[in-house]
Amino acid sequence: MNNHPDVHEIAGYYRYDINHLPVGLELGESALRIVWDDGRRSEYHYLWLRDNCPCHECISELSREQVFEICDVPLTIRPETATLTEDGRLDIVWDHEAHKSRYHPGWLRKHCYSDEAREERVLKPVIWEKGQIDRSLPTYGFADIMEDDGVLLNWLRGQRDYGLCLVEGVPTLPGTVQAIANRISFIRETNFGVLFDVQSKPDANSAAYTTLRLPLHTDLPTRELQPGLQFLHCLVNDASGGESILVDGFRIAEEMREHYPEDFAALSTLPMDFYNKDRDTDYRFRATALKLDSEGNVSEVRIANFLRGPLDLPGGDIAALYKAYRQFMLLTRESRFQYFRQLQAGDMIVFDNRRVLHARNAFDLKAGDRHLQGCYVDRDELLSRIRVLERTYG
Ligand code: OGA
Ligand code: ZN
Ligand code: ZN
Repeated sequence: MNNHPDVHEIAGYYRYDINHLPVGLELGESALRIVWDDGRRSEYHYLWLRDNCPCHECISELSREQVFEICDVPLTIRPETATLTEDGRLDIVWDHEAHKSRYHPGWLRKHCYSDEAREERVLKPVIWEKGQIDRSLPTYGFADIMEDDGVLLNWLRGQRDYGLCLVEGVPTLPGTVQAIANRISFIRETNFGVLFDVQSKPDANSAAYTTLRLPLHTDLPTRELQPGLQFLHCLVNDASGGESILVDGFRIAEEMREHYPEDFAALSTLPMDFYNKDRDTDYRFRATALKLDSEGNVSEVRIANFLRGPLDLPGGDIAALYKAYRQFMLLTRESRFQYFRQLQAGDMIVFDNRRVLHARNAFDLKAGDRHLQGCYVDRDELLSRIRVLERTYG
């Protein structure tokens, strides 16, 4: 049922489908309750409703931002009258200045804040380990991503939910990684450049630019904000070795929480220090390896053995953090958690650098060359692009 496609949200750019209609309305002390045609109940506080009035006085039509301020009405504001219209709108005349508000049912339903509705809106990552990712690694073709916004949206949702996708058939022309990244947005530039070339270099300023094995890590843990998406585009890979390994850091964190709860607590409360030093730059950041959100879910992983500085903690915490860190790293080395792939020229892996750890085996250049090109795009850009595409492709 989408019978009011003409209604455009004033305070945004979305259109709201009407999939359910309100059939009952009850006014309480500080909130009203709507009963929907499928039996669901939603409670909306008067302050919340007044705050979200979508009228042209309350919202600037130009910026679609709020002009009205909630501190300009009494805390005790309530409807003088509240009614449901034939076509399911909620009409309120407020007891303050007789202000009139009209709410669209699709919008109301979408913003219901009952426990049930809030739970349904939480985006849950698809946590993976070897078996699952081997069976269902989200894989897309370069040309499709470049030409078709619907495919672009599917890919970006894959990035958001799995934190790892493969793009195949990418031309091996240097700079192509930038064209793909720009399908999302602008690139997060760093001291390693807009694009970085992963090649063995005589003047290597990073372990990445040698032929050495790189243990599982996230990039730039030395920054307050670790880059969100990391792109690695394989231009040449004729060397022997150099296989890529990726591990879902959220899966390892889950394993830690279940089997090593004390270690999990140490990794999420005791900070480590990360250093990235060069001739002209000196970045440092201090943070826990596991970051938890307000619900206690792991929202970020920060690990790179080759970028760790000396621990700087009260003496009583040192042994606990070493024990926990060792345990975490030992788990990441178990093949049951690892996605393993020898990248081919024309492959590109893209992963959530704040979640998925990546590694490569040592390589030997006697057999041939190895050259990857990479860049970063922040999570904000990914999520913004998804939302904008969803306005059209829902
Ligand atoms: C890096 C990196 C992986 C590789 O450049 O940060 O992890 O396969 N490279 O060389
Ligand atoms: Zn208003
Ligand atoms: Zn890296």
